[in-house]
Amino acid sequence: MKLGIASDHGGFQLKEELKEYLEESGLEIIDYGTYSEESVDYPDYAFKLTDGVINGEVKYGIAICGTGVGISIACNKVKGIRAAHCTDSYTARVIREHNDANIICLGGRITGIEIAKDILDNFIKSEFEAGRHKTRVDKIISREKGE
Ligand code: RB5
Repeated sequence: MKLGIASDHGGFQLKEELKEYLEESGLEIIDYGTYSEESVDYPDYAFKLTDGVINGEVKYGIAICGTGVGISIACNKVKGIRAAHCTDSYTARVIREHNDANIICLGGRITGIEIAKDILDNFIKSEFEAGRHKTRVDKIISREKGE
């Protein structure tokens, strides 16, 4: 499975650690930046990642800023993106099973590396359950299309 990862400076450290963990787990990772701790604007990196998800370059995205909030707001402005901010492993599973989230957002200044690894394990291994959840997600997609 190919995953994309992106962060601003506030998420850079966690991005680097998670990238190493995921690659060691045998996953292919595309790193959309940022590539240093120099201050940058999180929407720029959110949109590099959303482009990768929308054009199918990667299946899912991992978006990280200081809190995970700014980058999640930016990601969710893009049609076809369902980005979910997450600080626990239960939510990480359910945002796939119920919400069909295609981007998970983490806070580099909030969530420690071991919790973040467990969060990502749960996100990656969980599948959308469809059924009644599809009805709900379809309503969001219809609204997005202006229907
Ligand atoms: C950058 O200092 C910080 O504002 C950003 O990483 C993020 O937390 C925004 O939501």
